[in-house]
Amino acid sequence: MSANTLSAATPAHRGASHLRGAALVGCGSAVPATSLSNSDLSARVETSDDWIRSRTGIGARRVAGPGETITTLAAEAARAALAHAGWEAQELDLILLATSSPDDLFGTAPRVQAAIGASRAVAFDLTAACSGFLFALITAAQYLRNGSFTKVLVIGADQLSRWLDWDDRRTCVLFGDGAGAVALEACEADEDGLVAFRMRSDGSRNACLTLAQTEHHRPLVGDTSAQIGGFATIHMNGQEVYKFAVREVPAVLAELLASTGLEASALDWLLLHQANQRILDAVADRFAVPHERVLSNLAHYGNTSAATIPLMLDEAVRDGRIQSGHLIASSGFGAGLSWGGALLRWRGPQAS
Ligand code: UT7
Repeated sequence: MSANTLSAATPAHRGASHLRGAALVGCGSAVPATSLSNSDLSARVETSDDWIRSRTGIGARRVAGPGETITTLAAEAARAALAHAGWEAQELDLILLATSSPDDLFGTAPRVQAAIGASRAVAFDLTAACSGFLFALITAAQYLRNGSFTKVLVIGADQLSRWLDWDDRRTCVLFGDGAGAVALEACEADEDGLVAFRMRSDGSRNACLTLAQTEHHRPLVGDTSAQIGGFATIHMNGQEVYKFAVREVPAVLAELLASTGLEASALDWLLLHQANQRILDAVADRFAVPHERVLSNLAHYGNTSAATIPLMLDEAVRDGRIQSGHLIASSGFGAGLSWGGALLRWRGPQAS
């Protein structure tokens, strides 16, 4: 467990190595061109628009077509975030890509680095499923706070359409593809956009939601054999994951509020991982957050895993709902099991 609640740097920390903050100063997103509606899916599996909408809030999802990959989507989101922040790619020190569906198991972030021409940046992947973006944002912020880096891009991108059993109605209706990116810049500690955070893992419940290696062995010499790589499709115990989410997300957000002394009424927005509208509503009700303060784009994109939070952030910044200075309570949750929360202060420019 890690926890961190910001306290202002003491004078002893001032100077070149004083503890600094991480300001959220730009965002961008990208989704594939093809949209698949609930009715489209009901032509393939035994389901209906009514069932999907009433149980999840999802109306459609984007599915990557030929030529659309994690690299292309992440690069498009990255370019948009750079433009929004007013940065050149060459200024970036770090690109952190949260994904569970990489184009290359050795890492996809370097491909994104090359695609956008961020030649100075170190680039690597971070995997934590639907918690991935939040974990990456928190991780990146530490490099800014400790003075290692000045300009960082955090990207959440997933293409789970690659890993779905499109004949399994329990999972194929839920997920979609997309990417979102946030630009983070070093700032003074009292301007820190990462006001507080919590990160949690419980591997004992890993079997609830997996995208696991398949067991294939290839005989080599004598009795020896080698395992051959390959993954199964997404397996989820929906009810268990639902119960986990409605228990743990409010708990982690309550901890964050208690640790900062803030009341839920101080929140401008609830920006949760977009998995199910019923989960969003349950968390909002727990904190008496009015539903118009709960951000949701499930109707258009479904669950895009690591991309949901930055995709939603970008939409709400660009349409003017999220404004500079707003306080956002965010939570990611999913496979691992993993979950976490963060109180974020948005500092970026308004819609362009
Ligand atoms: O991003 C990672 C985090 N993931 C989540 O947070 C997902 C959490 N879980 C959920 O959101 C919900 O559990 C689901 C949306 C996945 C499922 O909703 P549910 O209300 O828990 O449904 P259920 O699994 O209890 O299934 C109820 C019925 C079953 O039929 P029977 O056994 O009652 O006859 C299912 O077979 O609904 C059936 N069903 C469907 N029917 C039509 C399951 N999927 C479908 C479907 N269309 N697509």
